[in-house]
Amino acid sequence: MRRMSNAMRTVKVQLHNHAYDIRVGSNLLDSAGEMIRAIVPSKKMLVLTDSQVAKHHLPTLVASLQQAGIEAIPATIPAGETFKTVETLLPVFDTFLSARIDRRTPLIALGGGVIGDMGGFVAATLLRGVPFVQIPTTLLSMVDASVGGKTGVNHTTGKNLIGAFHQPHLVIADVATLQTLPPRELKGGLAECIKHDIIRDGEHFKLLSGKLDLALSVDLIALTDLVAHNVAIKARVVEADPFEKAERAHLNFGHTFGHAIEQASSYSYSHGESVALGMCAAAHASMQLGMISADDHAKIVAMITRAQLPSNGLTLPTDNLIRLMGFDKKVAAGKIRFILPDRIGHVVIRDDVADEVVRKAIESLR
Ligand SMILES: NC(=O)c1ccc[n+]([C@@H]2O[C@H](COP(=O)([O-])OP(=O)(O)OC[C@H]3O[C@@H](n4cnc5c(N)ncnc54)[C@H](O)[C@@H]3O)[C@@H](O)[C@H]2O)c1
Ligand SMILES: [Zn+2]
Repeated sequence: MRRMSNAMRTVKVQLHNHAYDIRVGSNLLDSAGEMIRAIVPSKKMLVLTDSQVAKHHLPTLVASLQQAGIEAIPATIPAGETFKTVETLLPVFDTFLSARIDRRTPLIALGGGVIGDMGGFVAATLLRGVPFVQIPTTLLSMVDASVGGKTGVNHTTGKNLIGAFHQPHLVIADVATLQTLPPRELKGGLAECIKHDIIRDGEHFKLLSGKLDLALSVDLIALTDLVAHNVAIKARVVEADPFEKAERAHLNFGHTFGHAIEQASSYSYSHGESVALGMCAAAHASMQLGMISADDHAKIVAMITRAQLPSNGLTLPTDNLIRLMGFDKKVAAGKIRFILPDRIGHVVIRDDVADEVVRKAIESLR
């Protein structure tokens, strides 16, 4: 028997001209067919997934679609960020366009952020746009990539340079899919959860350490609660700034330092690990500027450690990181823009942080 606390949670996203639900719960894949049919009815549905996710979760989705009287047309691409390219999508377009579809045929993206971004891009461009459904299967894609409508692929000159905004009609976050996720990927998603509380919810931050322990043990009730809380935070930020003109920049907390660390390490630090280090550095910069206390800085570092993410041990040269930060795309009018907490639960945008402060912040990660 299922406990009430494990019931499905729904977060509503309300944009100016488009509204949709994010449903969060465990074993939702089993009923995904019915859920999707109720929102975007069609006898056929396209499914984009990757080889790893296909192994674990595609059969369940296809069976659930069939049960709802829907024919699934799957396309599976190789797993990993290296395949997030236009070239990978060419055979996918071939598969989908030879299936006699029309503009009402939905596309379901089953996978992590790579599949979500690529699936959204295909949905935005196929027949000039078909309905899009996201079934995120990594913690990062549940709490971050599945909200906001950013889609796209990488180019040799940079990440996510080809793409479009395309909002989903429905997002189904089945936390039971996280049972097959490698632990390092799970921890990476926790970095974004910590980020959300630091930028928006100081009260929840106080409860977070216990929740992190449960999340790390893949407790499905705790994960349902954590994912619902985090999509709600991201949804509120995106609703206020759908095209990333202002406060959506707050989501980049930890990312100015983080992107530099990720790049300088040639991606041997994962995105989540880099952001974890980046948040420690940003908190240190805030402390130096008198914006937060040493105690708050210590609480942030402790939370990152609790999530089994790195907060020190960095050996990358400071000069290299400073240089890379200058090339970060979040640079506004020649100045490096930092998102810094002035208390746990609130951040401000600062473009006047002295080089000396940035260097000391990096040194604090040694
Ligand atoms: N659109 C946005 O707003 C947004 C936000 C953040 C990140 N992103 C994008 O998301 C991508 C990163 O996403 P990610 O971290 O989810 O990476 P990913 O999609 O590459 O998934 C990580 C790995 O886990 C595997 N995997 C996924 N789900 C699994 C499961 N349930 N069980 C077992 N294995 C599973 C995948 O096959 C892959 O090998 C980046 O390309 C980034 O640009 C987009
Ligand atoms: Zn991130």
